[in-house]
Amino acid sequence: MQTLLQVERLSVAFSSDAGRHCAVDDISFSIAPGESFALVGESGSGKSVTSLAILRLLDPRAQVAGNVLFDRENWLQLSERDMTARCGRDAAMIFQEPMTALNPVMSIGKQIAEAIRIHQRELSRAAVHRRAIEALDSVSIPDPAARFDDCPHQFSGGQRQRIMIAMALVNRPRLLIADEPTTALDVTVQAQILDLLRELKQRSNAAMLFISHDLSVVAQIAERVAVMRRGKIVEMATCAQIFADPQHPYTRSLLAAVPTMRSRRDAPLTVAMDGAVADGELIEISSGHWTRARR
Ligand SMILES: Nc1ncnc2c1ncn2[C@@H]1O[C@H](COP(=O)(O)OP(=O)(O)O)[C@@H](O)[C@H]1O
Ligand SMILES: [Mg+2]
Repeated sequence: MQTLLQVERLSVAFSSDAGRHCAVDDISFSIAPGESFALVGESGSGKSVTSLAILRLLDPRAQVAGNVLFDRENWLQLSERDMTARCGRDAAMIFQEPMTALNPVMSIGKQIAEAIRIHQRELSRAAVHRRAIEALDSVSIPDPAARFDDCPHQFSGGQRQRIMIAMALVNRPRLLIADEPTTALDVTVQAQILDLLRELKQRSNAAMLFISHDLSVVAQIAERVAVMRRGKIVEMATCAQIFADPQHPYTRSLLAAVPTMRSRRDAPLTVAMDGAVADGELIEISSGHWTRARR
């Protein structure tokens, strides 16, 4: 299998007066070109920290160990300057709350144009303008030329998420990281954004690292999934395997929590697991299906 992103034995720890806290604990996974891979787990399980570590966007005080190989180049060893050149071009990220990523006082057209200019300096002003409008059109913002000079607050939450997706894809990254991109949206808009992501993914053939606490959302978008608990991957398999034959008790608790999550999707998720688990090593129990505990 070809590999685009290979995360090897990644660990992230934070130190404070209270001691050292390992937010991500020795995780490994890989994503093939064009593949859609998900991380799922309750709040605080280490999903966002993993994605931020991949793009080197963590607080410099975070202690990061392991390797992040993108096309065999180890991103954890790049200079800051080289990493800046890759972030947004090779891999781009969208977040749960577009308002944290968008500048509230700059027009959306200008923001997209800037994102283009950072990585495609050779383009003329007119070409950048044209690409920015095409980008807005590709995410179905109605009448993009007329909306070019509008600021983020003049758009609905769903439209802002579309704009952020347009901005992330504008330099045609080979990997899109989407961290809970639909969690803050109501159910109808969530379905529209998932449709859009699926469509754009197909059109661009970018790979995707999709992050969610909700297995029912993951099932709609990902081919494979890793279940995270307390910084560790406890089970990893295709979505079909996870739904048909979940092995780890925590995975089964997540599956059981799906209907409740649907009713209160924006609430922080914590999952009670039936009984204690003696987690062992992650072992492959059938082709492509890994787990730390067997049913
Ligand atoms: N900058 C930080 N400093 C200290 N602890 C952090 C920091 N960022 C995240 N954490 C901790 O790391 C753990 C994992 O967080 P996170 O990856 O955000 O979880 P989630 O799975 O909900 O995305 C949590 O315990 C969180 O409190
Ligand atoms: Mg998170």
